[in-house]
Amino acid sequence: MRSKIPFFIIIPSVLSVIMFMFYVFLGFNHQIYIVHPVTISFFVVITILLFILDSIENLIFRRKLKFLTEEERRKIFEENEGNYFYRLYKFIFHDPKKKSQEVKKIDHGFDGILELDNKLPMWWVHLFYLTIIFSTIYFFSCLFTDFSNPYKEYEVAYQNQLKEIEIFEKNTPQVTVENAFFDQKFVDSGKTLFEENCATCHQSDGSGNIGPNLTDDYWINIMDKNLFKNIFSIIWYGSKNNPTMRAFGQSGEIKGNDIQKISSYVYFINTQLKKPIKNKAPQGKKIIDWDKL
Ligand code: HEC
Repeated sequence: MRSKIPFFIIIPSVLSVIMFMFYVFLGFNHQIYIVHPVTISFFVVITILLFILDSIENLIFRRKLKFLTEEERRKIFEENEGNYFYRLYKFIFHDPKKKSQEVKKIDHGFDGILELDNKLPMWWVHLFYLTIIFSTIYFFSCLFTDFSNPYKEYEVAYQNQLKEIEIFEKNTPQVTVENAFFDQKFVDSGKTLFEENCATCHQSDGSGNIGPNLTDDYWINIMDKNLFKNIFSIIWYGSKNNPTMRAFGQSGEIKGNDIQKISSYVYFINTQLKKPIKNKAPQGKKIIDWDKL
């Protein structure tokens, strides 16, 4: 007739299925996972209900036994002998007592093959039921919720990344005019940034277009007594005479650390001996020796 699954297996299983459903439909960050009196009492009530169900089932089972014949009753007692683990053991490894018993055989008749119709092991059947429960929950949650939806997961991960970058930038001290310095290692990344932000007006080699040639010794704007800091200041504050050269730093368009890289690139192309072949005509004052300003 039946092999009863004991309550200490049933109750944890049901509770974990409920937990799993919470996770699937609400996500892990939901309040349900915070130890909360409502959550705890919910699970306590469920546990009590399961206990009651279990005892009702036991009552029905015992009543049913009364209406069975002696032979049937003996069979049921034999099947339910020992505790759950012993029965489990019996199913996984062959029951030594049962060895003598006849195994049910199905005769296909036409091909002469005999098929043994053994009972499936209990653990196997239970696992099978579990996969059915799991797959239904999984299937419907995939259909109707965001659970394990790759697009949604990507979106969430992307947003988290953005947040992390924002936090990182907030906590990373940005270079200012006061502590900016030239470094050869910034030149390459500075070139890339220059091409993105400045090349439209100055050409990527700095030879000048709408904006002046940045590779010669002529300067319209003199904001600092140091060549590198002068470049940094112009990019930070923009030109006082001509708003076309806007205040990239002050407006927050480019961060201080990036301006330091761009300035390093401009300083590099301005001080190196190799100059672009085609240049815009000089504008402003010729300054060779910045130290003597
Ligand atoms: C929209 C066009 C434009 C863009 C973009 C631009 N500039 Fe300029 N830039 C100018 C103009 C025009 C001037 C001349 C300003 C003046 O007459 O005072 C100038 C001047 C300068 C000067 C000073 C030159 C001098 O002789 O005084 C530097 C240095 C400079 N730009 C660097 C940059 C850098 C670096 C970037 C990118 C972050 C950049 N510019 C982006 C148009 C631009």
